[in-house]
Parts: sequence; structure tokens; C-alpha cells
Amino acid sequence: MPDKPAIAILGGTGKEGQGLAYRWAKAGYAIIIGSRSEDRARQAANRIRERVPHARIQGMENRQAAQAADIVVVSVPYAGFRPLLEHIRDVVQGKLVVNVVVPLRPPKVTKVHLPQEGSAAQEAQAILGPDVAVVDAFQNISHELLWEDGPVDCDVLVTGRGKANRQRVIALVEDAGLRAWDAGPIENSAVVEGLTSVLIYLNKTYGSTHAGIRITGVPDRR
Ligand SMILES: NC(=O)c1ccc[n+]([C@@H]2O[C@H](COP(=O)([O-])OP(=O)(O)OC[C@H]3O[C@@H](n4cnc5c(N)ncnc54)[C@H](OP(=O)(O)O)[C@@H]3O)[C@@H](O)[C@H]2O)c1
Repeated sequence: MPDKPAIAILGGTGKEGQGLAYRWAKAGYAIIIGSRSEDRARQAANRIRERVPHARIQGMENRQAAQAADIVVVSVPYAGFRPLLEHIRDVVQGKLVVNVVVPLRPPKVTKVHLPQEGSAAQEAQAILGPDVAVVDAFQNISHELLWEDGPVDCDVLVTGRGKANRQRVIALVEDAGLRAWDAGPIENSAVVEGLTSVLIYLNKTYGSTHAGIRITGVPDRR
């Protein structure tokens, strides 16, 4: 499937990144796992290959991974977010950056915390500059649901810079087997990122593990 873009997943050795790599590898995308360690990246790529023998997947250090890909997904804990973006800034110019990061402040993860820019997406946009398009997705999807094969009972809200960019990300979400919505410009990312703390709070309060959201009242276009 040579028409599909190559996707780098920075922090792809971690829980959420592995789930995304698994789903996109199954869908035929070329995946580059990014890590601070090339070794860990290669090992993580091998874990995906064990489950998806036909996977087109390799592992690289984060900056090399970002350089080699068409689309760059950022999936690291918020504590490492700014240094990572500064590390890759010059090699992602002109690219689409998909932000998965929620700006949580452990241990208070049930309380909404947003950076002064308004959201992690806006912070990333400010760091990377106007020639990069930052789009939020997957903030409300648990890594376990991505790693399992079943249907995911949670919608994905896609917010970020430019309608055409959001449409590209919606196609990626749908190819991962999830339902996605264009939820508007980057200013709306605060709500999507903040919602994660609400879902974690619901899980703690009601003893659940996978609280999610569904958009109702809008015709499903699939
Ligand atoms: N887990 C979920 O269910 C979930 C759901 C929605 C959104 N998210 C968001 O997705 C992001 C990743 O979550 P996760 O659960 O996958 O995290 P994680 O497993 O704790 O970490 C992901 C990877 O980030 C790298 N990393 C860790 N600390 C770092 C630092 N200080 N600087 C640079 N890289 C660092 C590590 O890779 P290397 O050591 O190999 O570099 C690690 O394997 C988070 O922002 C989280 O809020 C997670």
C-alpha cells in the first residue's frame, strides 16, 4: 500500500504508542517507532511484528523517526513533551503532527490541568511554529482498548489547525478502527484534553476502567 503515509510514533515504546502502532500496522501503514533509545525502539517494533507478521515497522531514535516520516505522532508523558518538541522542531517543518499527549500533572490526574497556552496542542503549535500543523486525537482512548482487537466503545474527537489537516487525521483514526469527529479548531483542544481527567475521575468514582464518550444527535456518515 505505497499510497499510505509513513507514520512516526514518538514515545511509541509506551502504552498508548504501542496500541496505535499495532492498529496502524494492521491497517498497512509504514510505522517508525521513536524512542530516546534506538534499542528500545527496535524492541518495540519487534513486539508489533510478533502480532502483525506483515507489519512494515522499524525503530529509531525520536528525531530520526520524525525526520523519516510524513506524519509525526507525539505520545510521551507531558513531563517530556516540551524537550521532545524542541528536539524535533527543525525536522518536522512542513509536516502534520498528531498530538496524543494530555497535559496531566501526576499524581492529580483526576483534575484538569492545562498549560498557559490553553492546551498541549496549542503549546506544541507555539513551539513548532506556523509551518507545522498540530492536530489532537486519541486523548480519550485507553491504551488497553487500542491493544485489544475488539471494537472501541468511545469516539475520537479531532481538534487542531486546519480543516484539511483534521480530515487527514480522521482518516487515520478510522483506519485504526475507531469513529472520529471533526471537533473544530485548535482552541477546542482544551476541552478534549481536559475531558481525559473527567473520564479518569469517572473510572475512579464508579469502579470502571474504560469510561468513554459518544457523540449523539449527529447523523453517522459511515
Ligand atoms: N495510556 C493511555 O491509556 C493514554 C490514553 C490517552 C492519552 N494518553 C497520553 O499519551 C501519552 C503517552 O502515554 P503512555 O501511557 O503511552 O505513556 P508511557 O507509556 O508512560 O510513556 C510513553 C513513552 O514515552 C517515553 N518517555 C517517558 N518519559 C519521557 C520523557 N521524560 N521524555 C521523553 N520521552 C519520555 C518512553 O519512551 P522511551 O523511554 O523509549 O523514550 C515511554 O515508553 C501521554 O501524554 C498520555 O497522557 C495515554
